[in-house]
Amino acid sequence: MTSSNRFDGMVAVVTGAASGLGAASARRLAEEGARIVAVDRDERIVDAARDLPGEAIGVVADISDEADVDAYMAAGLDRFGRIDRFHLNAGIFGSFAPLPDLAADDFEHVMRVNVTGQFLGLRAAFRHFRRTRTRGAVAVTASIAGHRGSADLLPYQTSKHAVVGLVHGAAVYGGPLGIRVNAVAPGIVPTQLFADAASTTGGGNDMVQRASTTPLRRAGSADEIAGVVAFLLSDDSSYMTGEVVSADGGASIVNTVRPSGGAGTWDTDRVDAPLYADWERGDDA
Ligand SMILES: NC(=O)c1ccc[n+]([C@@H]2O[C@H](COP(=O)([O-])OP(=O)(O)OC[C@H]3O[C@@H](n4cnc5c(N)ncnc54)[C@H](O)[C@@H]3O)[C@@H](O)[C@H]2O)c1
Repeated sequence: MTSSNRFDGMVAVVTGAASGLGAASARRLAEEGARIVAVDRDERIVDAARDLPGEAIGVVADISDEADVDAYMAAGLDRFGRIDRFHLNAGIFGSFAPLPDLAADDFEHVMRVNVTGQFLGLRAAFRHFRRTRTRGAVAVTASIAGHRGSADLLPYQTSKHAVVGLVHGAAVYGGPLGIRVNAVAPGIVPTQLFADAASTTGGGNDMVQRASTTPLRRAGSADEIAGVVAFLLSDDSSYMTGEVVSADGGASIVNTVRPSGGAGTWDTDRVDAPLYADWERGDDA
């Protein structure tokens, strides 16, 4: 529980709030005084909203569906009469399939949720801010995967690179209007996303080992990401816009070819064997 009340009198939309990072940020913003419009495609959102401190509504909506975005905006405005802050957070991992085997549908599905969904949320926020002359703030959940490449996460990392573009463009557009748009780029935070994403390597199964290679030598918690989101949505960051703030235990600043955490910790054979087994065999999809 925090003693701060930076969001007193405000209303915040949080997407993906039924689980993981979104649930933690909804709680954090509520603890700091915001009334919450909690959005998720999962029906558990209704109960999750009830459990938040203070006033909140849970809205079942798909962030990648235009009508659903209109519906969560309408539900929030109907209940509270205003919206001041947005944490556009919902996202999916998608396929771990290696590049030659990736189905175009799987690729497009991740783009639809992680990119089009974030675009629709940003557009709704800006339309609302224009209509109401609100000098609001938006925080988007990007990822460490928006900065660098991995061999087995092509759709996800492409989508998160695109999210950085959305943040930069929206921030430049919003700046003269007094509207700030920033992103948090989490590293490894054990949530349902990772539990769902267990694979031979790189998923939930080896998360602890991967987290132990970061400078801070541990995974992060959802509350630690929520603290960054609350900062980005508060006036404490009033001179920041267009930033993609890493909260990853230092993972993204490691030099992977010098002894520095990442380097040497991985047995590359263990990582490479399952990833490239089909190349040994010359398999076709
Ligand atoms: N957990 C991590 O380590 C990590 C790291 C970097 C980035 N992220 C990002 O954080 C965000 C939240 O992930 P999380 O780890 O809390 O995952 P999570 O799976 O625990 O929570 C994601 C929530 O989003 C909801 N959701 C998914 N698609 C949706 C849609 N189309 N419409 C509405 N709701 C939808 C899910 O139902 C779920 O409740 C994602 O954007 C993810 O890419 C997470």
